[in-house]
Amino acid sequence: MKKSVLHVDRYMKVGEVDERIYGSFIEHLGRAVYEGIYQPDSPLSDENGFRRDVMGLVRELGVPVVRYPGGNFVSGYHWEDGTGPKELRPQRIEPAWNVIETNQFGLNEFMDWTSLAGTAPMMAVNLGTRGPEDAKNILEYCNLKGGSYYSDLRIAHGYQKPHDIKLWCLGNEMDGPWQMGHKTAYEYGRIAAETGRVMKMIDPDVELVACGSSSLYMDTFGDWEDTVLSECYDQADYISLHQYYDNCADDTPGFLANTVAMDQFISSVISICDAVKAKKRKKKSIHLSFDEWNVWYHSKEQDKKLEPWCKAPHQLEDIYNFEDALLVAGMLITMLRHADRVRIACLAQLVNVIAPIMTSDTGAWKQTIYYPFALISKYGRGTVLHTVADTPVYECRYGDAPYLDSVCVLNENEASETAELTIFAVNKDLKESMELSCDLRQFEGYQVKEHIVLTHPDLKAANTQSAPDLVKPSAGGNAKIEGGILSAILCDKSFHVIRLAKS
Ligand code: AHR
Repeated sequence: MKKSVLHVDRYMKVGEVDERIYGSFIEHLGRAVYEGIYQPDSPLSDENGFRRDVMGLVRELGVPVVRYPGGNFVSGYHWEDGTGPKELRPQRIEPAWNVIETNQFGLNEFMDWTSLAGTAPMMAVNLGTRGPEDAKNILEYCNLKGGSYYSDLRIAHGYQKPHDIKLWCLGNEMDGPWQMGHKTAYEYGRIAAETGRVMKMIDPDVELVACGSSSLYMDTFGDWEDTVLSECYDQADYISLHQYYDNCADDTPGFLANTVAMDQFISSVISICDAVKAKKRKKKSIHLSFDEWNVWYHSKEQDKKLEPWCKAPHQLEDIYNFEDALLVAGMLITMLRHADRVRIACLAQLVNVIAPIMTSDTGAWKQTIYYPFALISKYGRGTVLHTVADTPVYECRYGDAPYLDSVCVLNENEASETAELTIFAVNKDLKESMELSCDLRQFEGYQVKEHIVLTHPDLKAANTQSAPDLVKPSAGGNAKIEGGILSAILCDKSFHVIRLAKS
């Protein structure tokens, strides 16, 4: 059996977890909006046309922020098309995903949905086919009280109170040649600066996310961030990172080792942000918004066969299996380990489109990736502690990959009488169990409250509507504390939530 030792120090803090790290994403794409969160002709929907079953699963998942309306979609979008009386809204061709957009769901419906779903909006402006002028208009529509053209238009549309949206993305993936209005880093940096300037004039409290690279593997990676931030450092608060992983090669150890690549990606972006900060002699640091991340590949071949220009087709409907859930756990753990700089992250996406939640006309169910996300979102609140893991490694294309991915989160709050320490851990070994130990003598009085395990003998096992519970966590872990030392056996290929509480 492999052995790993986790060293943790309660006084060495990485940073407070910003709950927005548990964000997600709804794009006008496939069945994410239509038949996902919104289906007015369904008996499963409420009086707004919102799917009740989906709303329940979203609430349970725990997503404090949802990015909207894209994605690639936003780069050609006219947000006004989705406002006002529904019967007057135009149907448009939507070139990003080759479909027809009916505009029956738009900004105001999204805001209604977020408040019912218990989440907050992260809105993107179109810097593809539009620019600063349009960003000014939509912000005026959303955040001004009234007395101006666009704020009065919102009131005329039935929304007296401003939406007061504070978090905005300055476009989407502007480094990608697939993007409408794709730009060079300099062109984008200039437009982002101009847009940011006008947006902060209208509402000085907005926080702005500048587009970073669409992937670590873009040829422009590094130079892109450097140039963009050199142009818009004063206006930007965050820089975005996007990354999707696949197991097309059917090499599970290599697939699970992608947490190493993700860690390198995050560290590199932090270095570039800090280098620009140093060059410019600035006080302010730029934080990271990992606003698209997930596994994505299962649906790519089937999507090539879709007819163009239909409405809400089954696009990007990846069916996730158990190994995908292990990587999703590892990716969230990796981001938590950088809690001081990664302040926002969005699992892409939320419903039907590369999503933890799937729907049919008769119900909704949880994909495998739902579980690690929900568990980490629920218990991963508080302060991330610095840990060093003494763990065996295996070779992967990025160098050495540890068999153990882990992080510790301390949640001690006298006012609410909370005292919890949670260890999240993935044993990536596909054949052997791992003995984990951790000296917790600094955490006097803590005992094991619960040890939740997600494992399955078949890496390819998936949940479906007819078998929704094939892969799901159970509370059957064996963690114990003796003499202040925590020990647990982590079975092969498994994700663990070890919850300790002060008795
Ligand atoms: O999430 C799916 C797509 O992936 C988004 O529209 C785009 O931003 C990214 O390339």
